[in-house]
Amino acid sequence: MNKAVLVTGGAGYIGSHTTVELLEAGHQVVILDNLCNANREVFNRIEQITGNAPIFIQGDIRNSLTLDLVMQLYPIHTVIHFAGLKAVGESGQQPLNYYENNVHGTIVLCQAMQRAGIKRLIFSSSATVYGEEAPVPYIETLPRGKTSNPYGTSKSMVEQVLTDLYKADPEWSIVLLRYFNPIGAHDSGLIGEDPRGIPNNLMPYIAQVAIGRLQQLSIFGSDYPTQDGTCERDYLHVVDLAIGHLKSMQALDSAGIHIYNLGTGQPVSVLSMVKTFEEVTQQPLPYRITDRRAGDLAAFWADASKAENELGWKAERTLKQMIEDTWRWQSNNPNGYER
Ligand code: NAD
Ligand code: UFG
Repeated sequence: MNKAVLVTGGAGYIGSHTTVELLEAGHQVVILDNLCNANREVFNRIEQITGNAPIFIQGDIRNSLTLDLVMQLYPIHTVIHFAGLKAVGESGQQPLNYYENNVHGTIVLCQAMQRAGIKRLIFSSSATVYGEEAPVPYIETLPRGKTSNPYGTSKSMVEQVLTDLYKADPEWSIVLLRYFNPIGAHDSGLIGEDPRGIPNNLMPYIAQVAIGRLQQLSIFGSDYPTQDGTCERDYLHVVDLAIGHLKSMQALDSAGIHIYNLGTGQPVSVLSMVKTFEEVTQQPLPYRITDRRAGDLAAFWADASKAENELGWKAERTLKQMIEDTWRWQSNNPNGYER
């Protein structure tokens, strides 16, 4: 077997799209996922798209024996680390669970990598690490700021852990990718976002209202200091984000901590997302305006020029494509991967 990429959390939303891009670029992929937020059906779909199957090991990143075994069995050269918990609200109710999965889990993973002599890591970080008071657009030279929930704090803590790891052992090369708001789906309509229970995030909520699984969207606040009063975010297509991981592998060729924002640089308001979704899909989208959601910031978007200048990466897919692809996935799979 040629050298392989270990993708933790590769059965999830962003991990599955990245796996497709890796396989299509000719990489061998080994996925480690405990399936706590994923469905095995995703592997059939990845195979349908690429004609190739990743190796799948069901297991937990917090289990060092599993990690040692995986790293002994397969010639891993790089780890792309998606595995973790990501629901902001839930993180406030279950902080220990979030710190255990996201922070402790990453430490256990890095210890196993150290034992195996693998020192190339790409980590899924988030725009949330810029904190509550950072000026927009967010740029990588800003310091990390005060986060408002345990999920965001866990991402910031992991960034610190990885920075200290590199300081202690400068042979490591580590990429911290700060994602803005990934939405959309593969254009085959075969893989996409399949949240369990009621979605927390805007796009899957909209898609489930449009398909009739949910009655009405609540827009959280219309009195923000933005153009139309609703919050603005930087939504990027999940396939562009996946490609960003492949492009960022080149940064691993030099040791260091390499930080990149992955976003489009364009803010879009909640209300304009709703209107554009209705126009593109011709589906009515009932909504009402409700109170603000605790912890939401008015507006943030990326300065993504560093990724463009250093990696040659730029988000290319339009908002229309993001919506079309979301809608194709949702209408072909009204119940997600549960047929
Ligand atoms: P996801 O929940 O779809 O994928 C995460 C995957 O990790 C799931 O398949 C889950 O089963 C697996 N997993 C969780 N804990 C695990 C553990 N302890 N051991 C093994 N597997 C485990 O989430 P996603 O949207 O694909 O996000 C991937 C990563 O990107 C996460 O780290 C997330 O925090 C980060 N991120 C996501 C967003 C977003 O908006 N989706 C934004 C910024 C950062
Ligand atoms: N929103 C609604 N109604 C909903 C859901 C969301 O009005 O039912 C609004 C929110 O108030 C916010 C916007 O839509 O203004 C986007 O909300 P999301 O929950 O989709 O995304 P967030 O920007 O709150 O957070 C997301 C991820 C975080 C990550 C952050 C930055 O959930 O994990 O992007 O990457 F940190």
